[in-house]
Order: sequence, then structure tokens, then C-alpha cells
Amino acid sequence: MIELPSVADTRAFGERLAALLRAGDLVLLIGPLGAGKTALAQGIGAGLGVRGPVVSPTFVIARVHSGGRLPLVHVDAYRLGSLAEVDDLDLDVAVAESVTLVEWGAGKAEQLADTRLEILLDRKPDSEIRTLQLRPVGGDWTDRTAELIG
Ligand SMILES: Nc1ncnc2c1ncn2[C@@H]1O[C@H](COP(=O)(O)OP(=O)(O)OP(=O)(O)O)[C@@H](O)[C@H]1O
Ligand SMILES: [Mg+2]
Repeated sequence: MIELPSVADTRAFGERLAALLRAGDLVLLIGPLGAGKTALAQGIGAGLGVRGPVVSPTFVIARVHSGGRLPLVHVDAYRLGSLAEVDDLDLDVAVAESVTLVEWGAGKAEQLADTRLEILLDRKPDSEIRTLQLRPVGGDWTDRTAELIG
């Protein structure tokens, strides 16, 4: 369990995580309203060097940020029943060449990839502190993320 005392810490964690990301990666950001999913996505976007601003994609389902080391596909699955294929969204980049970040994807987006990084964020009432847990699923995610939690 990692403690993130401020939004700056959450963004900084995202920047460190970004350095480990590769084309085709799927990252699920899981946690309640205001847990910091988008703040973490902003850090990841900054770390990849994509053109911003990374904001909640709520009204568009998905937004592509280009111009960085890898394209970032930022998906909000809140209004979706389930996400069959991100490629079906007809974005102008291919998932295999991008990093795909999904907010509100728990129970909806797991089938997109056998191998993925799940990030659990949580908050306590009346506190800025967020907690973060990494749940590596398959592949070499455990090894890749070891340095982040060490
Ligand atoms: N330690 C922290 N980490 C992240 N955000 C924090 C922290 N402390 C305070 N905040 C604030 O909490 C809010 C987090 O909002 P954010 O949009 O990132 O959450 P979210 O999980 O994406 O919410 P939503 O479910 O609405 O998409 C921001 O206003 C941010 O400034
Ligand atoms: Mg959000």
C-alpha cells in the first residue's frame, strides 16, 4: 500500500509509472469518485510527454493524447456496459501501439487483455491522503512495477 499525501504526489507517481509503460499496455484505474484516477492519468500523460490536457473523458468515452513517447488512450467506461474492444471505438490510433488507461473499467474492461496492470486508489473522508495498490495481472507486470513500490 502506497500513501499519496497530495495531488502532487499522485501525479509524481504517475510520472514514474509512465517510464515503465510500453506499447500495447492496458492499465485499469479503479477507485471511487474523487479517488484520484484522473490525477494519476495526468501524471502518466506528463511522464509520456503527451499533449494535454488530460482531463476526465466523461463526455467522450475516450480521448487520444499524441505527441509523446507513446500515444495515450484515456477511456472512461462509466457509461459503458462493457468494453468489448477499444479498437471498436474507432480512435485514430491502434491500441497495440498505445498505452490504454481505463477509468471505471472494473468488471467491464478486464477482457481487453489477459495481461494488465490494475491500480486501486482509495480515499478516506475528510482527508487528502489517497492510498494506492498495484495489482499486476499476468505478463511481467510484477517485475516491471517492483521498483515503484520498493
Ligand atoms: N492525494 C491526492 N491524490 C489525488 N487527488 C487528490 C489528492 N488530494 C486531493 N486530491 C483532489 O481530489 C480530486 C481527485 O479528482 P480526480 O478527478 O483525479 O478523481 P477521479 O478518481 O478521476 O474521479 P472521477 O470518479 O470523478 O473520475 C482532485 O480534485 C484532486 O485535487
Ligand atoms: Mg476521473
